Amino acid sequence: MTSEQIRQKFFDFFEKRGHKIVSSSSLIPDDPSVLLTTAGMQQFKKYYIGELNASKDFGSQRTVSIQKCFRTSDIEEVGDNTHLTFFEMLGNFSFGPIVPSADGDNPKDFGTSGYFKRVAIFWAYEFVTEVLEINSERITVSIFGGDSEKIENSVPFDEQSYNIWHKEMGLPKDKIICGKREDNFWGPTGDEGPCGPTTEIYVDGIEIWNLVFNEYYREKNGRLRKAENPGIDTGMGFERLTAVLQGVDDVFETDIFKDFVFKINEFIPGGERKIVKILADHLKASIFLTADGIRPSNKEAGYILRRLLRRILAYSVKCDIHADLFPESVDFMKAKFSRFYPELNNAKTILAVLEEERLKFQEAIGKGLKEMKKYDEIGVKEAFYLYETFGLPFELIKELARQKVKNLNKGEFEKEFAKEFEGHQEISRAGAEKKFGGHGLVLNTGELKAVNEEEMKKVIRFHTATHLLQWSLREVLGKDVRQTGSDINAERLRFDFSFNRKMTAEEIKKVEDLANEKINENLPVYFKEMSKSDAEKIGALAFFKAKYPDVVKVYFIGAEEKGNLISAEFCGGPHINNTSEIGKFKILKEEAVAAGIRRIRAIIE
Ligand code: SER
Repeated sequence: MTSEQIRQKFFDFFEKRGHKIVSSSSLIPDDPSVLLTTAGMQQFKKYYIGELNASKDFGSQRTVSIQKCFRTSDIEEVGDNTHLTFFEMLGNFSFGPIVPSADGDNPKDFGTSGYFKRVAIFWAYEFVTEVLEINSERITVSIFGGDSEKIENSVPFDEQSYNIWHKEMGLPKDKIICGKREDNFWGPTGDEGPCGPTTEIYVDGIEIWNLVFNEYYREKNGRLRKAENPGIDTGMGFERLTAVLQGVDDVFETDIFKDFVFKINEFIPGGERKIVKILADHLKASIFLTADGIRPSNKEAGYILRRLLRRILAYSVKCDIHADLFPESVDFMKAKFSRFYPELNNAKTILAVLEEERLKFQEAIGKGLKEMKKYDEIGVKEAFYLYETFGLPFELIKELARQKVKNLNKGEFEKEFAKEFEGHQEISRAGAEKKFGGHGLVLNTGELKAVNEEEMKKVIRFHTATHLLQWSLREVLGKDVRQTGSDINAERLRFDFSFNRKMTAEEIKKVEDLANEKINENLPVYFKEMSKSDAEKIGALAFFKAKYPDVVKVYFIGAEEKGNLISAEFCGGPHINNTSEIGKFKILKEEAVAAGIRRIRAIIE
């Protein structure tokens, strides 16, 4: 079975059972307490807790998706047969409430209401044994065995799942394994959210599917409370499943990776297989992260991307690969995956970002090597300094300073280095949290914040100015320019966008003049609600970071019928009604923020 058939069969199966197919969300999550999207349920967190209504947004309490995921936790394992940083996850989801049909949680109910354990298990088993035609002899499962002590927050044995597997699905007792908290309790992502006991499905001992029963909500203080509506969140690793179905024991031998691995091998004939796999994983991951708008930097998600790219470049040095792996990799990913992930069509920009990082890296190596010469011996602290300051990856430090590295063969060095790295990550995560804090705001849409009415009016003028600025930048610099971030207060706007070099003084002036011209034309600013696909069809710009429901608001500047429509953007508002309300627009500064990202600070007078 090809991986494309697996995608299709999964969607078909659950769509037929009342699930709405929802596109993967971005790898940049909505939730500020997590750096990257790690699970399919993340984009649905608000539906589980009832803050958003799934029936309203999706026409069903059931959704199905194939989600792009990235997990740093496995980065050190990459290079073996099963671990990846970037992977896709097939998942079906249900957000209560469960409307009991004639006999309760009923797998024959192909409607649109919430469902729970019995239905989730029935369907998973049916999909695996009947659609994927995996012989039931090969299947074992695990369930939550219950906390051993009755302590605060303890969760009992999941007897219901046990009975469903044993009595209803007919699995023998010895094929049902009881797991502990570490193994059979999932979530939440971030510091609070839905979570609960799980049941996992294994084929030939390989875990392929994790079914989470979101019966609980974990609060920030660690307390577990019963969720108002129990939900279902399942996740099946696409690459691992494909390996099982294609009869290979290495995800890099599936049709998802095979051709790409072959291509990389051409650059390193006879190269160590483990390194080829690391390169395949990291190249794919970097390209997907970049496609979602992440740019290499020294903090948060940008730091992770930089680390991946620098590992690729370091291995290129180590393995003496003279060719540039980036252009062909970007082309390959676009050709193979852009049908599912259209953001990969942005190949030119993606490649430019990767290439800029390569130049930076080459410069850093030069400087790092010079610095390295000063030391007689390199310990964990020195290695970390070289790593952090010059961006030299550990593999490369080890390679370039072989005789200088202390305890090289003891493994201790690597462990301590990893510890040092984790500490650093904590700091950068804490930074991310602080940035998003804030109290007592009258307006807080995430992008816009104001403490009183007066500030709010100003902020809203700035908001419209931001749309105008984005339009104007794209007019002057080209359509590759895209918003990557924005921060507005009552004093100024700050607008980050993708662009690869410093703007000239003329360009800045042109952008400013163009914006003022449109302000003076008194263009109307208004919104229309439309389906997401219609909005995409008319070319409305979407901010990378956001996820959008099926019906979206699109803000327009100018009117089509008058021939002066200039801007259409996915946006929740608020905005002023006419560009003339903005006032005079003035750019104060244009500067670099990260590789491939520029920032403009502007005021209105
Ligand atoms: N959230 C669970 C996981 O990531 C199931 O989707 O494994």
